[in-house]
Amino acid sequence: MTGSQANDVLVSFRGVQKTYDGENLIVKDLNLDIRKGEFLTLLGPSGSGKTTSLMMLAGFETPTAGEILLGGRSLNRLPPHKRDIGMVFQNYALFPHMTVAENLAFPLSVRGMSRTDCTERVKKALSMVQLDSFRNRYPGQLSGGQQQRVALARALVFEPQLVLMDEPLGALDKQLREHMQMEIKHLHQRLGVTVVYVTHDQGEALTMSDRVAVFHQGEIQQIADPRTLYEQPSNTFVANFIGENNRICGRLASRDGDRCTITLPRGEQIEALAVNVGQVGDPVTLSIRPERVRLNGHSEACSNRFSGRVAEFIYLGDHVRIRMEVCGKDDFYVKQPVAELDPSLSVGDLIPLGWQVEHSRALDPLQLD
Ligand SMILES: Nc1ncnc2c1ncn2[C@@H]1O[C@H](COP(=O)(O)OP(=O)(O)OP(=O)(O)O)[C@@H](O)[C@H]1O
Ligand SMILES: [Mg+2]
Repeated sequence: MTGSQANDVLVSFRGVQKTYDGENLIVKDLNLDIRKGEFLTLLGPSGSGKTTSLMMLAGFETPTAGEILLGGRSLNRLPPHKRDIGMVFQNYALFPHMTVAENLAFPLSVRGMSRTDCTERVKKALSMVQLDSFRNRYPGQLSGGQQQRVALARALVFEPQLVLMDEPLGALDKQLREHMQMEIKHLHQRLGVTVVYVTHDQGEALTMSDRVAVFHQGEIQQIADPRTLYEQPSNTFVANFIGENNRICGRLASRDGDRCTITLPRGEQIEALAVNVGQVGDPVTLSIRPERVRLNGHSEACSNRFSGRVAEFIYLGDHVRIRMEVCGKDDFYVKQPVAELDPSLSVGDLIPLGWQVEHSRALDPLQLD
């Protein structure tokens, strides 16, 4: 790492491991640099170790091995309240017997701030989340979204360099959640604070983050910006976890640089990008996004061309998902904007379809666990 890159790093996990029972590693060997000012999301299925990783950073759990650095300093022996980290959780745990303003003043008074400075900061934090007129209400007199905003303001009021959020929007309904996603994202852009965010909702992760780290069984599978993660998944787990994905299993027939040919059980051959494959003869999972498949005449220029039978239409307002039988699979999905759908297409039709080499990615064989 060069000097200038090192200066951009706020948090480093170095070889961090965690076990609760002395046997199972919940976090296996976490090496992660979090950049100053970025919005980084830890995304993964339930039990993959996201909260555990966040709790070690916050100081509520201790790593079994390895170390965590904040601004180049080891955190291993630093208690939570000395870490200068703000936190927001799903059950926002505002103090019910304190007003909104008192809740916000709390983290300042425990840090020994004077009354005048305190009042000023609370005022600023309240206006940041647009709750100026709610300062004298009690949490019980606020809606879920308003309470979550107070929790957010309370995590930011002492102007920490780092804010951790663990599923902060999990308890809100869909509409409010989407609204708060944008609000938090804009707040992050305005303040320039570093945010580490945990969710198991991929839409939320893609919407809000500069980078997303995909967790599975205590390991980071891939870390990248949302677009790269979706367009260039580096393994089958990530391809399946983010977005919709057609999986086709076959074997590696040949390889030529970054391209390869895959043979399917029935003998069809598919040209693909050799992203994560073994030796010739090894099993491979192909990943093809439903929106990359072209139908009928639109498939003529495609390097992979097959025929498929239309099995079902699923209408979703702005687009249609078409379930098709392709290459021996009966759950091959094609996604088309409604405006581009050929109205004469019907269930039972046998039509040509295809996709380009760069839209089929040859990845590791699927492991069902
Ligand atoms: N205090 C604890 N004692 C023992 N085991 C724990 C403890 N906390 C978590 N675990 C176990 O560690 C694993 C990872 O838990 P963790 O809470 O980090 O997952 P997560 O990715 O945050 O999941 P979720 O999306 O459900 O919140 C789980 O199998 C969980 O049961
Ligand atoms: Mg969790």
